[in-house]
Amino acid sequence: MSAKRRVGVLISGRGSNLQALIDAAKAPDYPADLVLVISNVPGVQGLDRAEAAGIPTSTVNHRDFPSREAFEAALDEALGAAGVDLLCNAGFMRLLTEGFVSRWLDRHLNIHPSLLPAFKGLDTHARVLRSGARITGCTVHFVRAAMDDGPIVGQAAVPVLEGDTEEALAARVLAAEHRLYPHALRLVASGQVAVDGERVAGIPVRPDESNGADAPEGRGESALFSPPLRGNF
Ligand code: GAR
Repeated sequence: MSAKRRVGVLISGRGSNLQALIDAAKAPDYPADLVLVISNVPGVQGLDRAEAAGIPTSTVNHRDFPSREAFEAALDEALGAAGVDLLCNAGFMRLLTEGFVSRWLDRHLNIHPSLLPAFKGLDTHARVLRSGARITGCTVHFVRAAMDDGPIVGQAAVPVLEGDTEEALAARVLAAEHRLYPHALRLVASGQVAVDGERVAGIPVRPDESNGADAPEGRGESALFSPPLRGNF
């Protein structure tokens, strides 16, 4: 088997998506090792989750730096020292400069709680509810300089139900995020998909070879859609 990718994770808070990646990476055949977790916010729950899993952590507080560039230089230094070659944002809530994004181009993933390109930015679920949309979901994509923008690796669709509150909808989408992100990272880390221009291209696989990522019946979620599966449902 080829060498595992060395993954760094950027967080700002709770770290439940980080936990999903930690749990997935325990499987012997998972193609990625989590080698460093960096938070830009001190003392967050995600740091505790990483420590409990024995993953090295670092806090790089953006407030300690005079500029975005200086903050990002500190991120780069920590990531370089840990030998990170693939970066995952997991609830990382800082905008990154074009310089940082270009240094990690096509080696940097983000998860966002909507079906991009719809509902970029903050307060996603409240805006989905106000819009009257009947379907929302989550997206894992390669990072570009524009916020919540970039080639899409995978998406999961989630229904908006009558009477949903923001909290209920967020929880339903979060459950889908926890299944999508490990699946998407597996596709990227194993080389099954890669960026081709501004889209993600993959090796076609049959739906029954989709890493067990399809949603079980009755959980109110659609199947996960990733490039190899697109059009097969
Ligand atoms: C997740 O819902 C993630 O999609 C979102 O923040 C939450 C973090 O939760 N990210 C964004 O909105 C990025 N634009 P977590 O810390 O428990 O993983």
